Amino acid sequence: MIDVAPRTDGSAPHPSPVQEHGWWRDAVVYQVYPRSFADGDGDGTGDLPGIAARMESLAELGVDAVWLSPFYPSPQRDGGYDVSDYCDVDPMFGTLADFDRVVEAAHTHGVRVIVDLVPNHCSSDHAMFRAAVAAAPGSRERGHFHFRDGRGDAGEHPPNDWQSHFGGPAWTRVTETDGSPGQWYLHLFDPSQPDFNWEDDDVRAYFDRVLDFWLARGVDGFRVDVAHALVKAPGLPDWGGRPDGASSPGFPGEDAPMFDQPGVHVVFERWRERLESWGPDRILCAEANVAPLERAAKWVRPHEMHQAFNFAYLHAPWDAHRLRGVIDESLAAFGGVGAPSTWVLSNHDVTRHATRFGLVDGAHVDLGHGIRAGTPLDPELGERRARAAAALMTALPGAVYVYQGEELGLPEVLDIPDDARRDPYFLRSGGTVVGRDGCRVPIPWESDAPAYGFNATGRSWLPQPEKWSRYARDVQRADETSTLALYTHALATRKSLALGSGSLVWVRTDDPAVLAFVNGEVLVVANLSDHPVAIGTDEVLLESVPSAVHDGRLAPDAVAWFRASSDAV
Ligand code: GLC
Repeated sequence: MIDVAPRTDGSAPHPSPVQEHGWWRDAVVYQVYPRSFADGDGDGTGDLPGIAARMESLAELGVDAVWLSPFYPSPQRDGGYDVSDYCDVDPMFGTLADFDRVVEAAHTHGVRVIVDLVPNHCSSDHAMFRAAVAAAPGSRERGHFHFRDGRGDAGEHPPNDWQSHFGGPAWTRVTETDGSPGQWYLHLFDPSQPDFNWEDDDVRAYFDRVLDFWLARGVDGFRVDVAHALVKAPGLPDWGGRPDGASSPGFPGEDAPMFDQPGVHVVFERWRERLESWGPDRILCAEANVAPLERAAKWVRPHEMHQAFNFAYLHAPWDAHRLRGVIDESLAAFGGVGAPSTWVLSNHDVTRHATRFGLVDGAHVDLGHGIRAGTPLDPELGERRARAAAALMTALPGAVYVYQGEELGLPEVLDIPDDARRDPYFLRSGGTVVGRDGCRVPIPWESDAPAYGFNATGRSWLPQPEKWSRYARDVQRADETSTLALYTHALATRKSLALGSGSLVWVRTDDPAVLAFVNGEVLVVANLSDHPVAIGTDEVLLESVPSAVHDGRLAPDAVAWFRASSDAV
């Protein structure tokens, strides 16, 4: 029995993370994957005019900011994370003027704009890399990247044993201008994504200019791609670990020579200073996939970044013990350096959580790997748990990231034909790894329109499933029991009761599969068991599914928010 006049379970309360004011500390940030959000010109690929035209719906959802995944000129070998020009817009997405209109539309609706910056690597089409390939070994141009002579008598072996995240060696050999087999360059990802050398002054200065370019256009911040990999260990030593940097089940290995090197923090301290010269409200958010959380917290120490993604939360299974552990560790680790925690359930790199939480054996899905059609799955259970997970996440203090389509309850698309898949994980593994296309399918807006309103022509760069009408935004907007209605209500209540800037105090429960905590005026109860649990009756503020609270009991795989009574801790 959980009393709605709760008592603490004796654990130390997590103090409010708010020690300084800052909009990002309790923000809800909505990730837009531009190729798949809204397509203004009908060519089947989403674009900036599409985003501007749909901005009102994001304001209505109640988000504070949008994060736009890359829209820069790119050959699209890795969904735009292979940038060939950091200061322009790819024609497939529009023009710089279109970008300005997105910023204007967002700001008009009180929504801030965060752009995705990819500093670890560029595209092999980038002018700096082309110049490096054309220049001689040892030249200043080659110094912008990691060029090395190969091992072996004729330099025929890669300079070290590092593996690419997408499979195969992390090195590719170039042909020198005289036609002879030449040096090798490092790419932690695809061969078309050469890693910059961040020890190089030109590289640092170049990115200063890139930051200024977008700040001058009015952006409110940057999500920084692979922020943990910019600086490599001196001498690029051999590494016997896995391609993802993991030495063992503990991810990633403490000693991975391509991650979390001390020098990386110097880069972001410099960036922070630069942002502050533009005013106090521009932010940096790190994609730093390191473990444990104390390591990730190093990116958000004072004078460094503002937020770091919470990969531990992203990977947490639907399990009360594990979730409570991650929540405690997150609040302690980020709070320990005076930063807010972030929370996230899905993004463009992982299998959508409505599908993950429906996996029958609770199987873990590796980051980026996707799952195959035919994997044992209970979609209704997944959807129910996804709603519960959203209700739990949005009640937590800190900042929340929402990936486009999760507010519609979208599942992963599992049956994309092989010849339609675009993800380098799939292409480079010869199809052994399914990859990330299934979470990147263009989202449905109107149930009866071509391409479900993604555009007016019905074209779509990835095929949309036949049965997506029920997920369309217009259908859900008219249904107060929909997932969209749940998100809208949760975000509005979170804002009005200041849950994002609140604090968390656990409440004792009799059942280890039931989590309960108080945040300000709200008691949150999450039932992760397989049976209903008794609960004192009081004012219900939110239920993850209709009638989750019934006859004084909370249904399984459901979350409810109650008004905590005045003697609540
Ligand atoms: C990040 C991006 C991912 C991309 C990779 C390489 O992890 O989120 O989509 O493939 O970086 O840029």
